Amino acid sequence: MFEYSYPDARGHFGPYGGSFASETLTHALTELGQAYAKYWSEPEFLAEFRYELAHFVGRPSPVYHADRMSREMGGAQIYLKREDLNHTGAHKINNVIGQAMLARRMGKTRIIAETGAGQHGVATATICARYGLECVVYMGAEDVKRQSPNVFRMKLLGATVIPVESGSKTLKDALNEAMRDWVANVDNTFYIIGTVAGPAPYPAMVRDFQSVIGQECLTQMPELLQRQKMAADQPDAVVACVGGGSNAMGIFYPYIPFEHTRLIGVEAAGEGLETGKHSASLQRGSSGVLHGNRTFILQDEQGQITETHSISAGLDYPGVGPEHAWLQEIGRAEYVGATDQEALEAFHYLCRTEGIIPALESSHAVAYAMQLAKTMRADQSILVCLSGRGDKDIGTVADLTGNDYYDRPSMRGHIVKGGHAA
Ligand SMILES: Cc1ncc(COP(=O)(O)O)c(C=O)c1O
Repeated sequence: MFEYSYPDARGHFGPYGGSFASETLTHALTELGQAYAKYWSEPEFLAEFRYELAHFVGRPSPVYHADRMSREMGGAQIYLKREDLNHTGAHKINNVIGQAMLARRMGKTRIIAETGAGQHGVATATICARYGLECVVYMGAEDVKRQSPNVFRMKLLGATVIPVESGSKTLKDALNEAMRDWVANVDNTFYIIGTVAGPAPYPAMVRDFQSVIGQECLTQMPELLQRQKMAADQPDAVVACVGGGSNAMGIFYPYIPFEHTRLIGVEAAGEGLETGKHSASLQRGSSGVLHGNRTFILQDEQGQITETHSISAGLDYPGVGPEHAWLQEIGRAEYVGATDQEALEAFHYLCRTEGIIPALESSHAVAYAMQLAKTMRADQSILVCLSGRGDKDIGTVADLTGNDYYDRPSMRGHIVKGGHAA
């Protein structure tokens, strides 16, 4: 068993993590840390969290043996943890429920969030609708365009979506704006961060809320592997895409003690790691401070954040959760890349071979698993975190493949039953 107990009392994962925040937020972060420590060990809170995950989200999410795909790869058996089947379509809802439950107990009436792919924004808007809380979501103007179905979903759910026009108009800029809002409105506002980043206690708190993913796998995998008469009762490798790193931490964390299971995070290699157009903070970044914590970031010699690129909005971020930087440093997890092109091919492959339309983010993990499977034996297994579904991405995929994308014919001047001209 691999011994692991992080973060320390001050929220450090080795040299990473910690809390680099303005004075205005220091009190709010301390209050949040105390509330989290209190409620995360309270049976009533845990029971409510479990109830919400079972009855609102639909957990446990299944693990599915991708039989056809495994046969075609001709190596290891590939299993998919189906976070795409959660209510709202991704893993993000697990963490949002936990944080919203804390917000209620702390008497906060206004919720803010940042979002990249829009899945965290949709999850937050969903819970705010249910709990009757005001919801404001910051989203980079580029992401508003490329993930427009999710923008409309958030609005339907009653949230205010604020497009952020500064910087590269993507996730990092949305986080900056959300932080600014929090500083100005800290008394009545709870900031629901969507990944394992931000100042302490966020990285550990979001990890703990997301660990339900890996915990379920620990109980689901032995039976599935026995069915296939596999050598081991847990997977040989666990693979997940890494943006900020919350789906990866959620599935990795319970597996850390299992030293025979390789943990592999897949970053967005964009147009290729050598082109500079990527979001691979762990593979090409260096230590620095971003959004309240020390971690690996993409920066120039002056410490300025460099522009990132990924086909997927949820991975297009110049930083990464500090625990991943530490897991890389101590050698317990490995980090690799999948390019835009590889992710797009994996997206189409999964659609056609297994009948599953994955998110472009998750397609990065699928792409790497497909390569890895070919290098392994048929009695070995790979567990992939399929973090979300790809409905939000079909417009982007249509653009990239030069296809027409269905939109409402009423938008093109046709009369449609149910449309206003009908
Ligand atoms: C479906 C999906 N997967 C993965 C991610 C990346 O986030 P994280 O690395 O925190 O899991 C996102 C972010 O928006 C997402 O929507």
